[in-house]
Amino acid sequence: MIKKGIILAGGKGTRMSPLTKAVNKQLLPIYDKPLIFYPLSILMLAKIRDILIIVNKGELEQYKKIIPDGKRLGIKITYKEQDKPRGLPDAFILGEKFIKNQHVAMILGDNFFYGQSLTKMLLNCVRNKSGAKVLLHKVLNPEKYGVAKLKNKKIVSINEKPKKFISNLAITGLYFFDNKVVKFSKELKPSKRKELEITDLLKKYKKKGKLTAELIGRGGAWLDTGSIEDFYKTSNFVSAIENQQGFKIACLEEIALNYNWIDKKKISTAINFYGNCEYSKYLKKIIS
Ligand code: DAU
Repeated sequence: MIKKGIILAGGKGTRMSPLTKAVNKQLLPIYDKPLIFYPLSILMLAKIRDILIIVNKGELEQYKKIIPDGKRLGIKITYKEQDKPRGLPDAFILGEKFIKNQHVAMILGDNFFYGQSLTKMLLNCVRNKSGAKVLLHKVLNPEKYGVAKLKNKKIVSINEKPKKFISNLAITGLYFFDNKVVKFSKELKPSKRKELEITDLLKKYKKKGKLTAELIGRGGAWLDTGSIEDFYKTSNFVSAIENQQGFKIACLEEIALNYNWIDKKKISTAINFYGNCEYSKYLKKIIS
């Protein structure tokens, strides 16, 4: 059972400058909440309660203002700073002490997932006993992502942002690893763009026959909020769903309450913390 999770929430957000000059991308709004709420909600839905958030050096205080330590949510949150963006597998090197001898999940701070059977899929993924597991999603522009080619439901090749078409299955930014991930990450060499690549890490597992994949089908949505266009697309998606159904996506306190990690008193504390806003009104509705 995977009990530990990492959110990689650093990066310079260059494609979204000047918005990201003063504020980290993951603190910018996706409709009515900071982006970071969405990946955090995914780890929480997977019943992962021990979470390390990796942020850029110098940005820790900003994050702590909105997510101090997890107590309000009945979870444990710790932070670690990354001094420069060395690539996604750097998370496992920085997180070595946090991971200890356990298995670990990682989600990228700018990834958005939504779908009816998503929680069931997540709970299935955290049962991963050994090796690595990735979630794949069909996209129209695979050249923007890491992609995987499947044959008889098995991954036969992996490529990072391939210029030529290989497959339309993007490797989404949510990964489940056994404890070898720390050792494998340390063995990686930087790529041409001078970063450790997650696809190189996955290739190590593939070589050992230890890489499996789950498909997020048509009923599920995966959005990478890397560009301004994607940011607004995701915001519109959240707004459309929330205003049609009356439910909030990624309401952290609601997830914690549903899992009995917190009681209604903690929700009242949260209402005081957020102040008079739509999010608080929603929380009031939950406990009334
Ligand atoms: O979103 C899924 C894609 O994410 C995968 O399909 C690709 O295989 C994977 O390489 C990654 O591609 P991106 O180009 O989208 O990664 P990006 O550099 O945008 O980083 C993703 C997030 O991680 C972003 O929120 C910034 C953060 N980050 C990134 C790096 C490289 C860090 O916090 N530290 C880092 O060193």
